[in-house]
Amino acid sequence: MLVLSLLPTVLLALRVAASPAPVVVRENLISLPLSRKFNLDGSLNFAEQDAKRARALKANGHAKSSGLSSDAVVSEPVSNQVVSYIASVGVGSPATTYELIVDTGSSNTWVGAGQAYVKTETSSSTGQPVSVTYGSGSFSGTEFTDEVTLAPGLVISKQSIGVASTSEDFEGVDGILGIGPTDLTEGTLTREQTTLIPTVTDNLFSAGTIPSDLVAISFEPTTVEAVTNGELTFGGTDASKFTGSITFTPITSTSPASFYWGINESITYGTTTILSTTAGIVDTGTTLIYLASNAYSAYVKATGAVLDNNTGLLRITSAQFAALKNLNFNIGGVTFTLTPNAQIWPRSLNTAIGGVSNDIYLVVNNLGTPSGEGFDFINGYTFLERFYSVFDTGNKRVGFATTPFTTATTN
Ligand SMILES: *[C@@H]1O[C@H](CO)[C@@H](O)[C@H](O)[C@H]1NC(C)=O
Ligand SMILES: *[C@@H]1O[C@H](CO)[C@@H](O)[C@H](O)[C@H]1NC(C)=O
Repeated sequence: MLVLSLLPTVLLALRVAASPAPVVVRENLISLPLSRKFNLDGSLNFAEQDAKRARALKANGHAKSSGLSSDAVVSEPVSNQVVSYIASVGVGSPATTYELIVDTGSSNTWVGAGQAYVKTETSSSTGQPVSVTYGSGSFSGTEFTDEVTLAPGLVISKQSIGVASTSEDFEGVDGILGIGPTDLTEGTLTREQTTLIPTVTDNLFSAGTIPSDLVAISFEPTTVEAVTNGELTFGGTDASKFTGSITFTPITSTSPASFYWGINESITYGTTTILSTTAGIVDTGTTLIYLASNAYSAYVKATGAVLDNNTGLLRITSAQFAALKNLNFNIGGVTFTLTPNAQIWPRSLNTAIGGVSNDIYLVVNNLGTPSGEGFDFINGYTFLERFYSVFDTGNKRVGFATTPFTTATTN
């Protein structure tokens, strides 16, 4: 009896002895769940609403590259995101929970649009006025520092946050968790135009809470309007969410894409080049994939698609769908392919965007300006739901990897 009961212990000891090297411990990374939400603005069709953000992102970048201050320019209309991802973020101690839009296209974190800011012992006003003007909305208020809890164990003791005294067009949310490049905060402190505000990612890294100054995002294709199927990981990547290795590409040096998560890429449809290597951006808050007008025209011609007036999207027939070829994004020497199924809007959501239930709509849209302007594409959410993405501030690069959903038939 004694022998039997000792046996497991002995085996365990042997196993430890046989492998003296420390067991690989998974990095202690903490991920936040992201909830997806549809926000359709009745006054605009689906694609017009999305295109408004795309154009504003480009205009804002151009203004920044001309040295205009941010309150003089149109910034990105995050509030107009057709599909937004929301994270529940705690501010203060004890914390009040705010529902914040997670945005890679802006970098200020602020609260107070819906739920009013609740001051606690950790709240401290810097007295600095802060404001961001978005394409169709804005917030302005005062800068505070406060304790921000992104998840249990993922706490920033003194995060700069904007506390809105006024905000426009942020119905149903409390503010923004800005995880764009830090440079986008320039000019948002209205009295100190050149001061940059460290983002939540920067502060987690400088405090040693996370091992790298980066954030990784997992989205999954979905056929329902509201769902919690995204994941935000600070400081590392979640290997359970991607397959193979991550391909990194440097932030482009081409302005104005360089103000955002901008990269160089080329695009082919089948074997036909529709966009030669050029700069554009990766953006979680843009729903569709945007191409410079000449590349868009080439895609329309190659697919035979027509513009659908109700949705503002391209529409194809079933025969054209059957003949649809892969759309290939060549990034950092690797090809990331959107299969025909990944190029169409989920048919179960057609009526949600004003479409006809059995019609087939494409997720590629027109940026409205020709290539060669330093901002020639946007790889939006419909791209990111097929590839894991990494936004690496520390190494000034963006990474992509395939996922179990890359070639899945979901739409
Ligand atoms: C991106 O493309 C531009 C224009 O061709 C080129 O100057 C630059 O070296 C490329 N790479 C990066 C990282 O910007
Ligand atoms: C779509 O809208 C445009 C502009 O409003 C109009 O000229 C065109 O005739 C419409 N097409 C269809 C098929 O309704």
